[in-house]
Amino acid sequence: MKILVTGGAGYIGSHTCVELLKENYDVVVLDNFSNSCEESLNRVQKITDKKLSFYKADLLDPPSIDHVFEDHKIDAVIHFAGLKAVGESVSIPLKYYHNNLTGTFNLLSAMDKYTVKNLVFSSSATVYGDPASFPITEKFPLSATNPYGRSKLVIEEVLQDLYKSDKDWNIALLRYFNPVGAHESGEIGEDPQGLPNNLMPYISQVAVGLLPRLKVFGKDYNTPDGTGVRDYIHVTDLALGHIQTLPKLLSNPGVVIYNLGTGNGFSVLEMIKGLEKASGQKISYQITDRRPGDIAACFADATKAKKELGWEATKSLDDMCKDTWNWQKKNPQGYRKPAGEQ
Ligand code: NAD
Ligand code: UFG
Repeated sequence: MKILVTGGAGYIGSHTCVELLKENYDVVVLDNFSNSCEESLNRVQKITDKKLSFYKADLLDPPSIDHVFEDHKIDAVIHFAGLKAVGESVSIPLKYYHNNLTGTFNLLSAMDKYTVKNLVFSSSATVYGDPASFPITEKFPLSATNPYGRSKLVIEEVLQDLYKSDKDWNIALLRYFNPVGAHESGEIGEDPQGLPNNLMPYISQVAVGLLPRLKVFGKDYNTPDGTGVRDYIHVTDLALGHIQTLPKLLSNPGVVIYNLGTGNGFSVLEMIKGLEKASGQKISYQITDRRPGDIAACFADATKAKKELGWEATKSLDDMCKDTWNWQKKNPQGYRKPAGEQ
């Protein structure tokens, strides 16, 4: 069975490629390397001792997508490719809408043309906006608070429309909570370009000495310690959620929607403590104002995925912190080689 993975060189994509290869799927990656590099794919092949095919191609360039579908008989597509920085999406919304929406429309047109109608789409817990209660089930009302979130919401709606028009499509909308951690080998992990936007890469760059201190965005939320609470999920658990979704997709379910989270919430201060324990380093931090647009808490009811896919997250907070640290320590500059090394 051959799977096309768009954005397969990125953080979640690379971990999913590892699990796909381990399960003996044939893997074809399409990525423009706008937020990743070829080295992650070399390491995926190193970890698994298996080969994948990859194309440096842009979803904004339809002929290059055709090229991939002409070369390979694809059975299903896992679509990770997209821009994902919430703050940046507020400053340059058109770039986000163009890349995420037009890119997806081009992909869907190619899938239609080559009669490949099985799709797993990377959605996000951000489509729940500022939820009124917790844990969040898939039935909660949806809303968007920024262009990134709106791009996810619009794509979800487009995919629902597509299925209404043509019942041959099978589409899984996977709503991820907060992916963290890295592959246990320390070979692949999250490699933010520039200053990290997200909590865990920021904390681990403080721990390794690249950044002086973390800003904790607010200590006056209505949460047990006053800092924001999120449902952090190990990226390998998340990757395995995609593997468990594929057989479901091939059973012709139409459109299915699953939360991929652990169901547990941890605060910013708990994450700091977790990384201090894993690294043995003191993490310096200061409390600052809330980050505009942040919500107090967000955690999943993930029982639907357990019931229907047989999937649940198994890795603990300690695993998430240990693997984050292992990746950071082994690759202080991410995939870039240290100065002096060729
Ligand atoms: P990432 O940036 O590491 O990976 C995305 C990949 O897509 C990158 O390799 C990038 O080069 C590629 N890409 C972007 N635009 C492209 C285009 N036009 N053509 C071809 N390739 C393109 O991000 P990630 O964290 O691995 O996220 C993967 C998906 O999951 C994204 O759709 C993201 O929105 C979604 N998601 C991520 C999170 C998170 O916190 N990481 C949470 C919820 C949802
Ligand atoms: N935080 C800090 N300091 C930082 C960064 C974050 O205190 O330097 C806090 C935030 O205020 C929040 C928590 O850490 O309370 C988590 O923040 P992240 O930026 O890591 O994650 P978010 O929950 O804000 O958003 C992430 C992704 C979104 C995605 C969402 C839900 O960035 O794309 O999870 O899946 F939509």
